[in-house]
Amino acid sequence: MRTTEPGLQNIAKRRLSTAGRRPARALAASILAAVSLSCLNPRAHAQPLNVLHWWTSDSERQAADRLVQQLASQGVDWHDDAIPGGGGGAAIKVLTGRVLAGEAPDVAQVIGRTLTDWADLGLVRPLDDVAQRGHWRQAMFPVVLQTVSRGGRIMAAPLGVHRINTLLYNHHVWEQLRLAPPHTWHDIEAAAKVMRAHQVTPLAWSDEPWQIATVFETVLLSEGGPALYAQLASTQGWPAWQDARVAVALKRLRWLRDLDDEATSEQPWMASARRLQSGAAGMLIMGDWARGELEAWGEQAGLDFDCVPIPQTAGMHLYSIDTLAMLVGHDTHRPEQERMAEILAQPATQMAYNQAKGSVPVRMDIDPAQLDACARDSWQTLARPGSALLPSIAHRMAAVESVREAMGEVLHRFIKERAMTPQQAQAQLVAIVRGAAR
Ligand code: GAL
Repeated sequence: MRTTEPGLQNIAKRRLSTAGRRPARALAASILAAVSLSCLNPRAHAQPLNVLHWWTSDSERQAADRLVQQLASQGVDWHDDAIPGGGGGAAIKVLTGRVLAGEAPDVAQVIGRTLTDWADLGLVRPLDDVAQRGHWRQAMFPVVLQTVSRGGRIMAAPLGVHRINTLLYNHHVWEQLRLAPPHTWHDIEAAAKVMRAHQVTPLAWSDEPWQIATVFETVLLSEGGPALYAQLASTQGWPAWQDARVAVALKRLRWLRDLDDEATSEQPWMASARRLQSGAAGMLIMGDWARGELEAWGEQAGLDFDCVPIPQTAGMHLYSIDTLAMLVGHDTHRPEQERMAEILAQPATQMAYNQAKGSVPVRMDIDPAQLDACARDSWQTLARPGSALLPSIAHRMAAVESVREAMGEVLHRFIKERAMTPQQAQAQLVAIVRGAAR
C-alpha cells in the first residue's frame, strides 16, 4: 500500500507543520536530486502517475490514449483511473471521497470552480515553474490562464477548450429534406415541421440533469444575451436570475424538449449522438465533445454532419476548459507530475489530443488550418479580440459543485413535471443562487 497524507481537513495543516520541521534546504536538495536523476535518465526513477478522469466514450478514450502515447514517448507513465459518467458527476464524487480518505490520485480532472476551490484548500500543486519554463503566459489564451489561476498562481495543466453553444445537425437529413441551415429559432421550428412529416425526430434529447443544464445555459445565452449571462454566471449576480428573460429561456427549454417525440429518457450523451449519426434524429445540442465522438465513429464534419452556434450566439463562446490538476499527497511524485504538466502543454500534444476530443487547443500559436470548420470557428472566436467569452455554469466554470447540482435538479423537475410553471422554476433557481451568494 502506498503511504498517503491524511484527509481534507488535515492536509493544509500537515503541510504547514511539515514545512516547519523539515529544513527547507534539505527538502530543496532532495527534490533537486530527484529532478536531476530523472533528467539523466527519464525512465530511471519514473513512477506511474494515477490519473482520475471521466473520459470513457470512444472519442474521450481516443483523446486520453493520445495523451498516454505522448507522455510515454517522453518517459511519463499514465496509470488510468476512469470513472464513467458524462459531465463528470460520478467522477467528482469518487474523487472527493478518495481525497477525504487520504487516497488522492496523483492527477485528476479537476476543472473550473472546483479547481479554484481545491486550490484554496491546498489540495493541488501550483505549477508556476512549469508554466514559466513553457512560456504559458505568452502562448495560451488569456481566458485559459485565468481559469487555471488562483491568487496569481497556475494551479493546473490546461488541455483544451470546449464550446457548449454548439448545435450539430445531420447533413444527410438536411440535404434530403432540402432544409435551410438552422441559424435561427425560426429556422429550427420550420425544419422540425418538415422532419416530423418525414418521421425524423427533430432533436435528440436526454433528461439527465447535467444534459438539461447544458442545453439550458445555451438558451440562457441566446435569450438573455452575453451581458445578462455574465451576471447570471457571477457569484454575486443572483438578482439577475429574477430577470424576465430567464423565464423566456425556461419556456424555450421546454419547447426544445418537445422536439424529441420519444418518451422521456435519461440516455447517456453518446446515445443521443448515435441517434444523430443514424439520422433517426436531425439535431443535437451538446458541447463539441459530441463532434469528437461523431468523428471517432468515422463521420466527417461538413459531409456527414455540420455544426453552427446556437441561434443568437454566433461570435460568442460559452466555454468549458478541461484541465488536469496535480494533487498533493505524494511529494516523491512531484517531478513526474511536473513533467506531465509540461508535456500536456506542448503544441504536438495539444493538437493530437484536441483533434480527437472535439475541443480546441489552449494555445494561440497553432495553425488553425489544421482544425476542421467547427473547431476553427471555435478557436477563431476565442482568438478574436472583443468576442464574448462566457463560462459554462453546467460544466463547473462558474458555479460551485453544490449549486450546479441543485440547479440541475430544478431543471430536471421542470422538464418532468409539466404542472410546474417557468415562474415557479425561476423562483427556485433564484433561491438556490441567492443562498449560495451569502
Ligand atoms: C464535460 C467535459 C468534457 C466531456 C463532457 C462529457 O464536462 O469537459 O471533456 O467529457 O463533459 O462527459
